[in-house]
Amino acid sequence: MTDSHRAIDVATMKRLQDAALKAAANSYAPYSKFRVGAALLFDDGFIAAGCNIENMSYGMTICAERSALSSAISERGAEHKIVAIAVTNLNSVASPPCGACRQVLSEFVTAEAIVSFPGDDGLELRPFREVFPFVFHLEAQ
Ligand code: THU
Repeated sequence: MTDSHRAIDVATMKRLQDAALKAAANSYAPYSKFRVGAALLFDDGFIAAGCNIENMSYGMTICAERSALSSAISERGAEHKIVAIAVTNLNSVASPPCGACRQVLSEFVTAEAIVSFPGDDGLELRPFREVFPFVFHLEAQ
C-alpha cells in the first residue's frame, strides 16, 4: 500500500488485527493481568506490532501502542506515516487506545488513519481524528 489515501481493505485490517493479537500473547502484565497488543500499518505496507510491558514501578509501564511505535521507529526511522492501527486484548473487554497513546500516535498518523479496537458492543472501526479530535500541536517558534 503506497497511497495513504486509499481505504484499508478488509483483508489488510484482519492481518493487522491478527498481528496485534499475536503481540498480545507476548504481553508482560503480571500486575494488571491486562494483556494488550497493538499493530500499526504504515503507508508502505510495513506492519509493526507491540505489547504492553509493565513494571513494578507502575508508572514505568509502556502501553502496547507506544511499544509498537518504538519498535517501528527504532527499526527504520520516522519517515513513514501510520494509516491504520489495531488494538486488541486477551481479556475480552473494551480497550480503545489510552489518551497518552492517542497523543503520541497523533504525531505519526495520516489525516485518514483508521483505528480498530474492542468497544463496549464489539469491534469498533473509527477514524483516528474521531477517536482523538483535539490534538495538541506545538507551533514552531
Ligand atoms: N494499556 C495498553 O497497553 N494500552 C492502552 O491503550 C491502555 C492500557 C495497558 C497498560 C497496562 O499494562 C494495562 O493495559 C492496564 O492499564
